[in-house]
Amino acid sequence: MDRSRHDLLLIIDFGSQVTQLIARRLREASVYCEIWPYNALNDAKMRELAPKGVILSGGPASATAADSPRAPDAVFDLGVPVLGICYGQQTMLLQLGGRVEGGHHREFGRAFVTPSGTHGRDSIFAGLFATGREEVWMSHGDRVTELAPGFEVVGTSPNAPMAIVADEARGFYAVQFHPEVHHTPNGRLLLQNFARLAGFKGDWTMGAYRAEAIAKIRTQVGDGKVICGLSGGVDSSVAAVLIHEAIGDQLTCVFVDHGLLRQNEAQEVVTMFRDHYNIPLVHADESDLFLDALDGVADPEVKRKTIGRLFIDVFQKHAEAVGGAAFLAQGTLYPDVIESVSFAGGPSVTIKSHHNVGGLPEKMGLKLVEPLRELFKDEVRALGRELGLPASFIGRHPFPGPGLAIRCPGEVTRDKLEILRKADAIYIDQIRRHGLYDDIWQAFVALLPVRTVGVMGDGRSYDYACALRAVTSVDGMTADYYPFTHEFLGETATRIINEVHGINRVTYDVTSKPPGTIEWE
Ligand code: XMP
Repeated sequence: MDRSRHDLLLIIDFGSQVTQLIARRLREASVYCEIWPYNALNDAKMRELAPKGVILSGGPASATAADSPRAPDAVFDLGVPVLGICYGQQTMLLQLGGRVEGGHHREFGRAFVTPSGTHGRDSIFAGLFATGREEVWMSHGDRVTELAPGFEVVGTSPNAPMAIVADEARGFYAVQFHPEVHHTPNGRLLLQNFARLAGFKGDWTMGAYRAEAIAKIRTQVGDGKVICGLSGGVDSSVAAVLIHEAIGDQLTCVFVDHGLLRQNEAQEVVTMFRDHYNIPLVHADESDLFLDALDGVADPEVKRKTIGRLFIDVFQKHAEAVGGAAFLAQGTLYPDVIESVSFAGGPSVTIKSHHNVGGLPEKMGLKLVEPLRELFKDEVRALGRELGLPASFIGRHPFPGPGLAIRCPGEVTRDKLEILRKADAIYIDQIRRHGLYDDIWQAFVALLPVRTVGVMGDGRSYDYACALRAVTSVDGMTADYYPFTHEFLGETATRIINEVHGINRVTYDVTSKPPGTIEWE
């Protein structure tokens, strides 16, 4: 992104699992923001970035520990508004002369903040406390116990007497709760008020993004050739169509069938790209390569890394076949970028390694084109609409790069994959028949590595159990299980057991994220 065209709201990441949601909420208000790990910043870098506002994220450390992370001092000298969230509140108050203590009642989950003191009508609290209190989501052990000079308490909760503090003269605000999560219903308003107060105009639109991305692709690629790894998912497809718009037939798409796709998926993708878009497409059936390499592998991270490595090998092969492609395009999204940055030295804990992220091996010699690096999933969908992709395609549920391998906990075999494919197809068919597909973020079957006893007809069966998963989510970062009716679940279980040879038990996964993840591995 050409930053000179957009004011920057800088989010300093102290390692909270939900830091990305801060960016998400701001982007919803067309505010351009970037997340930087605290340890990649210093005073000089702060001045170079020259943000128009700064948000300090939450994080897992205790601000009371001597070596705990701090914001560069320059943050408070730039003369721009600063908002501290949770850990960010604590380090901010400490750095400005207040006091933080641990050992209090730890507070996780829902809490209510009531106003105390006065605050300006135009402040970041505009529109809050309309009902006399605000529902917020807390997650902290330490808390601020003494204000820094210039600050006053604006809101309190039973376990966080300084739940909201502010030095409005300097534009410094700090909250103990997480305004970025959905469980703080008015948190979005608070973040957007903050951006408005910092002077953001909200000029970061998809139309502008499209034009800038196309110009940037042309500059980066020149007259070079690009290959694009297509998965059939929304991300890589939007990336391909965008790049095709920028450079036409300099682009060749490679669709790698790793043998871990859903029923009929390969055919659907190939038909759509060749017939609908006229984009040159190589259909690489590499299922034996992948499935042989996965033989006997049960560890989820080994599975992911094996698949990721082979993808690169396969692309490399096809890059040469295409006649000297110098670039590899990927549908990498912003959450993946942040996760891999964190992985490479940032503060947050890596939960899963996503395979389509990270640099390519030196020896590969292909440069990356990643036109969606700044976008979240729903922004990619908006860009897809902007580019004219069919609604049915844009609305497809996300499908992970490692495919069915991570929906088959334990060892992956061809037989298990076949069983899984059939069950999954029935489940999705059921969801479509009941008109629920668009209400659900993602739905799939996981085939469990356990066989159980059943009775079918007059005989005993000893077959696999499977789990149905369906979640609602806005961005895949947090999720709730979908509340199907009992009738729907019963009907679906009956169909799967009757129609799929190899499954005799169906369960429904009612875990939210967190603490679960959406995929099983
Ligand atoms: P989790 O399981 O981490 O998944 O809650 C969040 C979202 O990311 C998708 N996912 C992936 N997508 N490559 C991808 O392209 C991957 O390695 C990968 N792993 C998970 C998952 O399907 C869900 O939408």
